[in-house]
Amino acid sequence: MERNDKTELYDTMLSELSALLDGADDPVTVMASAVAVIHHTLPYASWTGFYRVVEDGLLRVGPYQGPVGCLEIPFDRGVCGAAAREKQTQVVEDVHAFPGHIACDPTSRSEIVVPVYGADDSLVAVLDVDSRQSAAFDEADRAGLERVADRLRRHFGRRSA
Ligand code: SME
Repeated sequence: MERNDKTELYDTMLSELSALLDGADDPVTVMASAVAVIHHTLPYASWTGFYRVVEDGLLRVGPYQGPVGCLEIPFDRGVCGAAAREKQTQVVEDVHAFPGHIACDPTSRSEIVVPVYGADDSLVAVLDVDSRQSAAFDEADRAGLERVADRLRRHFGRRSA
């Protein structure tokens, strides 16, 4: 998919999220709604979901769409763990080449994981989008999903998301 087409997708996604989440402050409501919008806007997404920070060094699955995901991921495992540990977006063109990748869905080929912060700047969760296409995610996805994470920040007042 061309960069301009992706940018349009993310513009649409952002407007939809802004309208949908106006005034929402329940973290489950916010995550579930955001996941539905993201998953159904990106034609190349096979799994879209949040892994929440539940204690130091541990992620637990939150609202998601797609096949069953792993329940817990320590910060030292997988792509999600790397995003949480390094507080950096991870764009992985080939998940089989990523050391420690956790294969919840064996058909997944590429993924992007973006850190998500709360209004108080604490790390609340990571947002994970997987694809069955290899190298499905690029800089347009990084920019788009980081905009999404930034837009969600005001809806997460507490760390106990
Ligand atoms: N791909 C992730 C694991 C979670 S899922 O694929 C749903 C990872 O390696 O962090």
